[in-house]
Amino acid sequence: MKKIQAITAVFLFVAISGWSQNVTEGINIDSLLNEMSLIEKIGQLTLITSDWDITGPSLSNDYKELIKAGKAGAVFNAYTVDFVRELQKTAVEETRLKIPLLFGYDVIHGHRTIFPIPLGQAASWNLDLIRRSESVAASEATAEGINWIFAPMVDISRDPRWGRVSEGGGEDTWLTSKIGATRVNGFQGEDLSSNSTALACVKHFAAYGAPEAGREYNTVDISTTSLFESYLPPYKAGIDAGTGSVMTSFNEINGQPSTSNKWLLTDLLRDQWDFKGFVVSDYTSINELVNHGVAEDEKSAALLSLNAGVDMDMQGRAFLNNLEMLIAGDKISMQQIDQAVRRILIAKAKLGLFDDPYRYCNKKREKTAIMTKDNRILARKLVRESCVLLKNENNTLPIPDNVKSIAIIGPLGDSKKDMLGNWIAAGEWDKCITLKEGMVNRAGDLIKVTYNRGCGIDDANTSGFEEALKAARNADMVILALGEAGEMSGEAASRTNIDLPGVQNQLATMVMEAGKPTVAVLFNGRPLAISQLQASVPAILETWFGGTEAGNGIADVLFGDYNPAGKLTMTFPQNLGQVPIYYNHKNTGRPLDPERPDFKYLSKYIDSPNDPLYPFGYGLSYTTFKYDDLSANVEGGQIQISVNVANTGNRDGEEVVQLYVQDKIGSITRPVKELKGFQKLMIKKGESKTVQFTLTKDDLAFYHPDLTKSFEPGEFVVYVGGNSVETIQKLVLFD
Ligand code: BGC
Repeated sequence: MKKIQAITAVFLFVAISGWSQNVTEGINIDSLLNEMSLIEKIGQLTLITSDWDITGPSLSNDYKELIKAGKAGAVFNAYTVDFVRELQKTAVEETRLKIPLLFGYDVIHGHRTIFPIPLGQAASWNLDLIRRSESVAASEATAEGINWIFAPMVDISRDPRWGRVSEGGGEDTWLTSKIGATRVNGFQGEDLSSNSTALACVKHFAAYGAPEAGREYNTVDISTTSLFESYLPPYKAGIDAGTGSVMTSFNEINGQPSTSNKWLLTDLLRDQWDFKGFVVSDYTSINELVNHGVAEDEKSAALLSLNAGVDMDMQGRAFLNNLEMLIAGDKISMQQIDQAVRRILIAKAKLGLFDDPYRYCNKKREKTAIMTKDNRILARKLVRESCVLLKNENNTLPIPDNVKSIAIIGPLGDSKKDMLGNWIAAGEWDKCITLKEGMVNRAGDLIKVTYNRGCGIDDANTSGFEEALKAARNADMVILALGEAGEMSGEAASRTNIDLPGVQNQLATMVMEAGKPTVAVLFNGRPLAISQLQASVPAILETWFGGTEAGNGIADVLFGDYNPAGKLTMTFPQNLGQVPIYYNHKNTGRPLDPERPDFKYLSKYIDSPNDPLYPFGYGLSYTTFKYDDLSANVEGGQIQISVNVANTGNRDGEEVVQLYVQDKIGSITRPVKELKGFQKLMIKKGESKTVQFTLTKDDLAFYHPDLTKSFEPGEFVVYVGGNSVETIQKLVLFD
């Protein structure tokens, strides 16, 4: 492979060992920095999109010219070996200093082999599987030229109206932190210079998941303790896991947009958290400082964000257009620019790009590493583990052996395009397995499978109902395929109504007239308000958007080849009026009292219960589990917890054993319950297992209004169970 002579020597000594290592890098990068003109430096701070994919409001047609002029240091939305090679060649052969480009992309749940949406993956509670899926995602993306992945998104959200809940780990801070760190490890692997790992980007820093009213890009207003306690830890976990980059968020915090927030990007991220990688703005978020009303024009927006700590400008060209002027006017220093450039050059060096700028442009890997059999097997496994069984009256599922005909009815039953969900990277919808295809694959000649659409996803047309009912009457069993279209969640897809769209509830009610055992299989990117469905059908399986192998994985669950064990990581409300609703809320001064249902002056509604439809951590199995013998004792300065979990049903099954804690009395109010641990384990029918957890004082420490974090001794209630509501408990004095 051709080396870049001018600079290879400079970088040969760059160590590839973690972001905190910078001594040798400093010396070598200094010599390159010395050679660079101001505009070449600003170029390194500029990230532009190609015209291959549209992920934001402004497009670039002149990206090739910018690269050639040395005015771009990184490109996103460009992939395939040929295309990336062409752009990289321009950078390393036609620019003066031949500095290679970074290639970024939103590989959110797979690159070509698409895995379930992240919210679905979280429901697997299987960190190892999530890590392996991200390492496949990185392996496929890097086989097509990508070396920088705009994930993980670790924004905590408690509001299902917000479409981007599909991209995160759900509502829980502790679990999302674990998942975020796992994803970073999956992308970056052990060795960032390997040609199958990529730089991660923890986003969106910070608190982007708390927009008012769940409306995309809306204002965020949260208390400082809530920010530190609930929203910030997952970003910190991603940073501690070694992410090479962090992306700012569109929202404001305490009246200051993240992209111009010096407290956030410098005092906290750099000085307190010791982050060594680089910070990229979100898509035109520097320019948007003008709309936020903190900058009068693009120039002052560029000034504010560079001063705050943004190193790279995504797509807005505010740096490109203004930093020279700002230097000339002594508004910013060369030292500031050099610092940002240095961080980006270090990332390039760690990826090995100076050694071989084409290391991610290997034609052979592009042919062999993508959509492999093994990758698809892993995707199918994750589909199965992501499925959450929400209801299963009379053991409707798994499909009994005597069923000889199945009618699949509903708009999501055979829609390849919707199987991928949103943020589909280079995913190919025509290679997806739909529910119908998965069912046919599994049923073979033994069971007749028919399909009727019944209605559209989101329209008022009921003309297909009669045919659907006829099909239901003619079958032994009915599977309703209901939910949202793939593009109804994700970015810029907030909803004010989280019911099943269109006439799907009516379709379900109509089909139930056939009196057949019926299962609703749901496809959606957010918790939906499905009380009506819960009341009308005997079984409901939540499958999210499963990606390439959706149909096969769902069929595995429906037929009982796999016993479902997924558990919700976001609360499903009974109705939209309960939103935001989350399990780890505060008690309030007038909490609901089940003993006094008619007492008026309590924290409740007059027209709805407080309880959700399905709580956090909830999910059924084809078997049943019984929890007992809980002990929680303080030994050696830690709480040692032990519980017995028995499989009391007729099948082997996995259970996610969840540990929650309540700090009974604090100097400030504490949540009613907080997840502090879990174990997913297989328990054979008739067997039981002892599960143990340990809690330290650190695990129970929390932020105080002065932002110190400490443990307060006292009484704690330890809860263990298969979801956040059905638990057994023990009181412990821990001082
Ligand atoms: C999104 C980011 C994404 C970026 C690039 C933005 O609109 O908020 O999550 O990484 O676009 O596609």
